[in-house]
Amino acid sequence: MPYYRRVGDVPAKRHLRIRRPDHAGYLFEELMGEEGFSSDSSLLYHRHSPSALLAAEAIPDPTAGTFEADVPLVPRHLRTAKLPAGGDTVLGRTRLLGNDDVLVSWTAADTAGDLYRNATGDELVYLHQGGARLETSFGAMDVGAGDYVAIPAGTTHRWVPKSGGMRALVLELRGHLRFPARYLSETGQLKEGAPFSERDLRAPHEPLLLEGEKVAVLVRTRSGLTRHLQRSHPFDVVGWDGCLYPFALSIHDFEPLVGAIHQPPPVHQTFAGPNLVVCSFVPRPYDFHPDAIKVPYHHANVDSDEVIFYAGGDFMSRAESGIGPGSISVHPAGFVHGPQPGSMERAAGAERTEELAVMLDTFRPLGLSAAARQVSDDDYPWTWAGGRA
Ligand SMILES: [Fe+2]
Repeated sequence: MPYYRRVGDVPAKRHLRIRRPDHAGYLFEELMGEEGFSSDSSLLYHRHSPSALLAAEAIPDPTAGTFEADVPLVPRHLRTAKLPAGGDTVLGRTRLLGNDDVLVSWTAADTAGDLYRNATGDELVYLHQGGARLETSFGAMDVGAGDYVAIPAGTTHRWVPKSGGMRALVLELRGHLRFPARYLSETGQLKEGAPFSERDLRAPHEPLLLEGEKVAVLVRTRSGLTRHLQRSHPFDVVGWDGCLYPFALSIHDFEPLVGAIHQPPPVHQTFAGPNLVVCSFVPRPYDFHPDAIKVPYHHANVDSDEVIFYAGGDFMSRAESGIGPGSISVHPAGFVHGPQPGSMERAAGAERTEELAVMLDTFRPLGLSAAARQVSDDDYPWTWAGGRA
């Protein structure tokens, strides 16, 4: 999806025989490509065959579970602070919401796990607190609070949390992450007027070369988890080039658009995915018409479920609802939602908002996991009315 990038030693011509620099045979070229050979791809040059498996076993998936419909239908406030903490970023994640297009999880990881490859689709991780080093076959990068980290399907990687751990919202897409088409030129460049540019994208800039034998790699498929034992370490790529690779985009580099009157969420859109969009709400001046209503008008998203992760700042529209940093609201289709009582008046004199939030809109209904129900605030659905009947 992002622009062409080249890292390490890459031959002048592709698909030709290339000797290893130490003359111990040839490099192994791997094409990692979307939609077969017909979309974005990268070419990676391995020291060893990436296909050399020694063993394979199905392993239990500690994140497995079902998602039940939200019946009776109510808006939800999920409190991530009450979710389990610890473990690694993959097996330790807690699934909250899901449908056939996306799984939404929370992780509060403090340890590095096995190497991992998600074969079901791209992952988008929003780092809320802490930091990590993301090691991949494309190289490593340091990521921290406020970073969106995009990991293409099939990327072998490992999260190594920094001391103090990392807290993050994880989206597992059943397909590929894209930038909104309207931000892109016909040939794929981010246009003037888009809320971020190629300069804001960070990606590995040097190879990550590790030695090792009999290295375990967890592979997620739609059937569950398999542990492959690879003969040599997958981080043996001396160079790669192409347009498909993991990258980070800080939410703080998202340039907000504001207007005289309230702008609808599409101006905050950051990513598109299969039957979903992701938007970033960032600190910005408020609407500047003298009579502007500075909090969102009531709205019925008749075609989507709306999930907002509240990352920081004040949330004027949700004041006195119990929502604060670390909260997730789920406002499903069928529920007309709007600002909490009194917010319009409270916001009237304010000149800017410091809110920081990530929104996921899904075009098909989301189910809730048992863990999500356990951390759901029972009082939230009735906060607009001042209490339950
Ligand atoms: Fe909304």
